[in-house]
Amino acid sequence: MKTLKVNLPGREYQIDIGQNILDIQLPKAVKRNSTAHVVVVTNTTLQELYPNFVFNLLADSGVKVSTCVLPDGEKYKNLDTLSMVFDFLMDVCANRKSLLIAFGGGVIGDMAGFAASTFVRGIPFIQVPTTLLSDVDSSVGGKTAVNHPSGKNTIGTFKQPEYVCIELSFLKTLPSRELKAGHMELLKHGLIQDADFFNYTQQHSLEPLDFDYLEEAIFRSCKIKAKIVEKDETEKGLRANLNFGHTLGHLIETHAGYGKYLHGEAVGAGMLFATFVSWRRNEITLNEWDLISSALTQYLMPLKLLKMDFDTFRNLILHDKKAQKQAVNFILLNKLGKSFIFPEMSVEILWEEFNLFVQEYPGIIRLE
Ligand code: NAD
Ligand code: GLY
Repeated sequence: MKTLKVNLPGREYQIDIGQNILDIQLPKAVKRNSTAHVVVVTNTTLQELYPNFVFNLLADSGVKVSTCVLPDGEKYKNLDTLSMVFDFLMDVCANRKSLLIAFGGGVIGDMAGFAASTFVRGIPFIQVPTTLLSDVDSSVGGKTAVNHPSGKNTIGTFKQPEYVCIELSFLKTLPSRELKAGHMELLKHGLIQDADFFNYTQQHSLEPLDFDYLEEAIFRSCKIKAKIVEKDETEKGLRANLNFGHTLGHLIETHAGYGKYLHGEAVGAGMLFATFVSWRRNEITLNEWDLISSALTQYLMPLKLLKMDFDTFRNLILHDKKAQKQAVNFILLNKLGKSFIFPEMSVEILWEEFNLFVQEYPGIIRLE
């Protein structure tokens, strides 16, 4: 097992990563919390694959465990589903001393975290991620959110977990498409911050699952994210680098309809686009573009989007039809392993680059 700490003032927490660790580590973490009531938030898929998993793990702990099972999918990551969590918490008489456990991927983690940060003005929560994406990204750093029809993750809070337990064996049941999508966020951490880590990922195959690789890669990935979050928890600046690929990624998810493409797939295409823009602006070399684009494309499948005009593109990027501004902070690379925030990149420039990108790489994004 590998362990790492996220050091935030007064809210340090531990992340454990390994195979077959949850049955020991989770009861210990619940005990540390001295709660009498645990509420597990999960979804129908996890409940079917791992029936009452957390409930059974805590059976001998003397703690009451209630399980809230939500519908599965990005399209349910919204205020209506969040309301179901609040209804459940009220029904089972949860209170400030209750502990919430998110058992699932990023959708469950983001919604459970949101509920934990607002129910009775905040209750503690633990992340038990079950997808590669949630292992390497969403379970760490404390961003919680639901989607608005006009903008991905636009309603949310910051709420750090008490503990994160990354149990690798859940990845055995994760579909290949989800695995590849999750790998994108892992590659992101190498691209923006650590060329050695990126090169390390290139020396290993994702499938068949290699748990030695996964343990090391998830550990390094979480470490990169944790260091950034420690310096800028609420994204005043530096943390925005973690949004590399997300400007176009979020646009794709919203425009295609939540759930059509996986978050990691949309972000992967967005990272390729951001790398393309970095190369076109001579921030990175042709060699770097070749290396990065061939690394990313092996995990990407073609995305089809409805043709859009400039106004649609602009509104999706700015999340606001009436916004006066015409620019966004955009994350570029200035070498492999180093990103920077380009402040106020004009949406018109991004539109031109986007059109060029889809013309040159119809195998990545096809407009029809
Ligand atoms: P997800 O939560 O939808 O999970 C993907 C699918 O895999 C779901 O159908 C789920 O039921 C299923 N699943 C989960 N674990 C499984 C397992 N072990 N075996 C088989 N199936 C399993 O998607 P995701 O990729 O985990 O997360 C994407 C979400 O995370 C997006 O909403 C994104 O916005 C969010 N996100 C948040 C942050 C953050 O910092 N908070 C960072 C990145 C992404
Ligand atoms: N996934 C971006 C962040 O956590 O800031």
